[in-house]
Amino acid sequence: MVIGFSKLTREQKRDFVASLFEDHKSAAAQLDCFLHSDKSLQKRFEEFSENTISNYFLPYGIVPNIVINDEIFHLPMVIEESSVVAAASNSAKFWASRGGFHAQVLGMTKLGHVHFLWNEDPAILFNAFDDIKNKLFFEAKYLTSNMEKRGGGIMDIELVDMTHEIADYYQLKVSFDTCDSMGANFINSCLESFANTLDGFGKALSSDKNSLQVIMSILSNYTPECKVKVWVECLIEELDGLGEGMSGLEFARKFELAVKIAQIDPYRATTHNKGIYNGIDAIVIATGNDFRAIEASGHAWAAHTGRYSGLTKVDISNGRFCYTLEVPLSIGTVGGLTSLHPLARFSLELLGEPSAEKLMKIAAVAGLANNFGAIRSLITKGIQSGHMKMHLHNMLNFMGATDAEKIRAEEWFKDKVVSYKAVKDYLQKL
Ligand code: MEV
Repeated sequence: MVIGFSKLTREQKRDFVASLFEDHKSAAAQLDCFLHSDKSLQKRFEEFSENTISNYFLPYGIVPNIVINDEIFHLPMVIEESSVVAAASNSAKFWASRGGFHAQVLGMTKLGHVHFLWNEDPAILFNAFDDIKNKLFFEAKYLTSNMEKRGGGIMDIELVDMTHEIADYYQLKVSFDTCDSMGANFINSCLESFANTLDGFGKALSSDKNSLQVIMSILSNYTPECKVKVWVECLIEELDGLGEGMSGLEFARKFELAVKIAQIDPYRATTHNKGIYNGIDAIVIATGNDFRAIEASGHAWAAHTGRYSGLTKVDISNGRFCYTLEVPLSIGTVGGLTSLHPLARFSLELLGEPSAEKLMKIAAVAGLANNFGAIRSLITKGIQSGHMKMHLHNMLNFMGATDAEKIRAEEWFKDKVVSYKAVKDYLQKL
């Protein structure tokens, strides 16, 4: 057990961790070699979180020429998994000559709640609610005035009776417009101010000071009203040849079945949706947004009918193929890491300083592009041939192959099955 770890300097923390390794000198050196040479930048990275002892690198890749609503973007993607950038790039290329991707934001409203108990007559609370609401708005003014100047703020506050679920349980359900910011801090600060105001009202409405008890105040990461729809469409005959020896119609029919399977089978739906988040997360991370929040919301939305389902829909009627993804996406282009992390800033500049609405469209398109690429592979040649070719490079690096060996191995495995043993044997032979 280590006591007072958080009070140690970075070097002391590093030395403690390194001391757990057999060769502690090289463990410390390994941690140090990923530090940034610019000391002030390094300090900034360290201060994003606590107990930082090094940096963790991930690839920063580009998907070029993706057309969204007739505009061309070069997408920054941060992802460690091979094939994701390649799959999105292939889809981008395929759809660029078929009208590109289309995108529409369906809503920007975010939600938060004050969860509380009231153990007296509900009518007292509901009769006083107009006064309570006015005071909630008034007492949070110092927090909301800036956001209001930017065109956002608190949209509405509702009192929700939840006593059918838990005895005495009510909610303040609050909707927010946080403009171009993700808005977590703004929302949580407003909610905590509401909790104080509500607490004061509770004491005024009852002689018993314990009649009203605030349990917690927190934004909801489930954002079904902050949602974006993206789609691609073309004539079915334009899909001719997408699968070797397959007509456009054969491809479309098999594609439709694959999507339907994800609609009805949660096992397949989970993997289907994971492929969508391969694309979305990569953009979300590259732009300094919170991928855990985005994923949590998407998976909750995937279950909104009561059955966890794939997030995409396909329509192949009237000779057309139309493939749609609708997904909640609460992301920001100002505040948080978006301006502090130099590569997040770089990504936003590369994307032309998008508004939050535009970034929602871009991220969702990356999700659909990846998913289209995945389904295309799955219903034709399978994913392993492409995947293992990419993985070959990682294996060669892991086995310490030289550059010359890598070139020869990549040539050799062009038409062969890649496996760990096969690659090892081949290197040994070399
Ligand atoms: C792998 O990361 C993602 C896929 O499994 C997605 C899918 O199956 O649709 C290829």
